[in-house]
Amino acid sequence: NTPSTTAPYASASVAEKRKMVHELCQQLILTDEQINELNYRILHEIKKGLAKDTHQKANVKCFVTYVQDLPNGNERGKFLALDLGGTNFRVLLIHLKEDHDFQMESRIYAIPQHIMLGSGIQLFDHIAECLANFMNEHDVYKERLPLGFTFSFPLTQLGLTKGLLVTWTKGFNCAGVVNEDVVQLLKDAIARRGDVQIDVCAILNDTTGTLMSCAWKNHNCKIGLIVGTGSNACYVERVEEAEMFDAGANGKPHVLINTEWGAFGDNGALDFVRTEFDEDVDSHSINPGKQVFEKMISGMYMGELVRLAIVKMVKAGVLFKGVDSDVLMTRGQFFTKYVSEIEADEPGVFTNCRLVLEELGLNNATDEDCANVRYICECVSKRAAHLVSCGIATLINKMNEPQVTVGVDGSVYRFHPKFHNLMVEKITQLVKPGITFDLMLSEDGSGRGAALVAAVACREDVPKKK
Ligand code: GLC
Repeated sequence: NTPSTTAPYASASVAEKRKMVHELCQQLILTDEQINELNYRILHEIKKGLAKDTHQKANVKCFVTYVQDLPNGNERGKFLALDLGGTNFRVLLIHLKEDHDFQMESRIYAIPQHIMLGSGIQLFDHIAECLANFMNEHDVYKERLPLGFTFSFPLTQLGLTKGLLVTWTKGFNCAGVVNEDVVQLLKDAIARRGDVQIDVCAILNDTTGTLMSCAWKNHNCKIGLIVGTGSNACYVERVEEAEMFDAGANGKPHVLINTEWGAFGDNGALDFVRTEFDEDVDSHSINPGKQVFEKMISGMYMGELVRLAIVKMVKAGVLFKGVDSDVLMTRGQFFTKYVSEIEADEPGVFTNCRLVLEELGLNNATDEDCANVRYICECVSKRAAHLVSCGIATLINKMNEPQVTVGVDGSVYRFHPKFHNLMVEKITQLVKPGITFDLMLSEDGSGRGAALVAAVACREDVPKKK
């Protein structure tokens, strides 16, 4: 591709180009003042979601999960789990054993684009078919097993096994599912086949699975966080605060709340920190105006934010002497994993950066180009880490317990080389004095967590061996 004739900075000096990139990225850097304002606004939105009078209008819905007991380590048995809503659809068979020992087999199945955007019937028939094939392959075809369904979308739950889809998020948009009971749709699809038998014991969010999976070993785990394709958190709330929860007379003091914080900002509350790139990502998404916070943070959008900033700098002649490539100019082609790869280079070295740029068809990048591309990546990922930290610090401060463990999962948290440290640093700065916390990687929350929720739901408290 030929250099853009309108590239005004093509012949500028290295220092001038660097300055241009830094100026462009200034809008991605959150000041302490903005962060304080964000904390205040998130707390306000969470309270709106929790309270009966304001729940209807709230963006951060704070859905009741009906999960009230954390695992106690005595859960045992064989469970099936389904995991829908991340990068992959998975079916799992989990065997929980003594002393936190467990065995797990799983298989990933593709959900083709036409199913993600097709009808609900097609989606659930596909899920049921994968489940039946899996049971067949794992010799449990004839067994009647309990199943936990990790369904990572906003649900209004009416019980542990009844949840109405509020809206699709991320890349899904299947017709005929919104306002329907997703557990029933799954059961219907299984009944249509008629060949396998299962007991759906629980439907849960991936954040809940993440929390449960950590809490199995660590009793301080009271928050579950996902920074993956989407972003969301759940936490342990006192029943009195969860006004939407009809606790009945069971006397249990706590309930898990699925915040669905991805929708924070859908009413404009984030406009004071949004950039031209955020608006662009949003307006080209399948759900414009929705999941505004998530779109500033999560893996489905992070690469695209970086791409947009790079493209702007190429057009100005600041990067690559103004020469673009077809791949770079194509939406969605700067994958979020590239951000992690580029930032994994040692200081002053651009090995990964060059490999990524070559994949994009940009073969003549100078060291300065690479340094500028890396700076853009750093600003976008650091902002994401800081936004997530605002949310987590707000939850920690609200819970007001002396020690909290946060169970975390998701591709961005897992694979970005600096995300964990950036979060620890920012949350430390934001939590009330006297509170300590740690971030713990959750090992396969959506799978093991689903089994644990199912197990807790049908727990027989096996006495611990002396
Ligand atoms: C989206 C979903 C939410 C899920 C998150 C992470 O925000 O709405 O339910 O927890 O993605 O997968």
